[in-house]
Amino acid sequence: MAVQYSYDSSEDATPRRLLVTGGAGFIGSNFVHHWCHAHPSDRIVVLDALTYAGNRQNLAALEGQEQFRFVQGNICDRTLIDQLLQEEAIDTVAHFAAESHVDRSIIGPDAFIQTNVVGTFTLLEAFKQYWEHQQKPDDYRFVHVSTDEVFGSLGPDDPAFSETTPYAPNSPYSASKAGSDHLVRAYHHTYSLPTLLTNCSNNYGPYHYPEKLIPLMSINILLGKPLPVYGDGQNVRDWLYVLDHCRALDTVIHRGIPGETYNIGGNNEVKNIDLVQMICRIMDELASQHLPVKPSRELITFVKDRPGHDRRYAIDSTKIKTQLGWAPLVTVEEGLRQTLGWYLTHKTWWEPLLSEEYQAYYRQVYA
Ligand code: NAD
Ligand code: TYD
Repeated sequence: MAVQYSYDSSEDATPRRLLVTGGAGFIGSNFVHHWCHAHPSDRIVVLDALTYAGNRQNLAALEGQEQFRFVQGNICDRTLIDQLLQEEAIDTVAHFAAESHVDRSIIGPDAFIQTNVVGTFTLLEAFKQYWEHQQKPDDYRFVHVSTDEVFGSLGPDDPAFSETTPYAPNSPYSASKAGSDHLVRAYHHTYSLPTLLTNCSNNYGPYHYPEKLIPLMSINILLGKPLPVYGDGQNVRDWLYVLDHCRALDTVIHRGIPGETYNIGGNNEVKNIDLVQMICRIMDELASQHLPVKPSRELITFVKDRPGHDRRYAIDSTKIKTQLGWAPLVTVEEGLRQTLGWYLTHKTWWEPLLSEEYQAYYRQVYA
């Protein structure tokens, strides 16, 4: 992986045994690579249903390593979860599994309720029973990875979202994540389950499924296809490099206080149209000889806006910075260079993902 960090090995005094749900997805797989590299004495069990967004290739480099196990299965399958918690003597759940794409939630919200709400509930119930059966060890952790989208949409001059910002989710995706967050909070409040909740901003980096903004634009540039910018392109997102996010989650698992919520942001607010212009500029530079259309900004096309499109997200990361000592290290310019370079050299990863199912989805959203 291109960006490398060093780690504080004093965190490894007691090896952990992690169940990582959704570990074959974008952030989950980056997290698993991070963890295996940073904590080689720890056990990592990935549970992933391998939906359209899950890809076992993301973890190919770890197959066969003793510390790593992959299990294909659904977080709604209580019997399987009970079995894995016990047979692997899990002490830490890192919960990434979710339906994660806003546009898909607008077309078909059912799966979002099932996985994000019912799935999270199933995991919480299983972990609670298991933790109680083990006499409630105080070093067990359940980390729920959520989103800044639960806070709704900001105006241009509003302060960034903090941990006390009221919830106001606007899409079926963010509403389902908000539902899961409330369950996580309630399980700590009612049962003292050692849960931690994180709400992060938009991630980007390697292994990002092609439907999301940055991979979609990168791949379309390489294919000479139009770059569809929703509405007026003035929507703002706070971009977080995925390995910065993984470091933050590592910090929360080792140093976070159960029952607390931590906001994790990239400190990189950018308007969509400016981000797309940056992607074009960097891609023109990195792939100069190989682009079907150059300059690639000629491919930019404004298309119909997403229904209910949130205008601005921004995260105030003061709490995690001051209480746990984490801060993002990667600027959006640096992170984009790493990411676009990765897409450029990993055509064999993304090409098979542009399947007939994907094309059908694409036509439905962009027709
Ligand atoms: P992703 O869509 O790339 O991956 C989700 C993974 O979960 C896939 O591997 C999929 O197969 C798996 N999965 C889906 N349903 C499942 C089920 N029922 N049982 C087991 N596995 C299942 O998502 P991502 O972008 O990696 O996001 C990970 C988490 O981070 C999600 O909870 C998401 O809400 C949250 N998040 C993501 C972002 C972002 O920018 N990507 C930002 C904020 C929060
Ligand atoms: P996305 O990556 O889907 O993340 P989210 O909706 O969770 O923030 O989109 C990021 C921003 O880019 C969002 O404002 C919608 C916009 N967007 C486009 O303009 N065109 C696209 O084709 C996509 C996928 C997103």
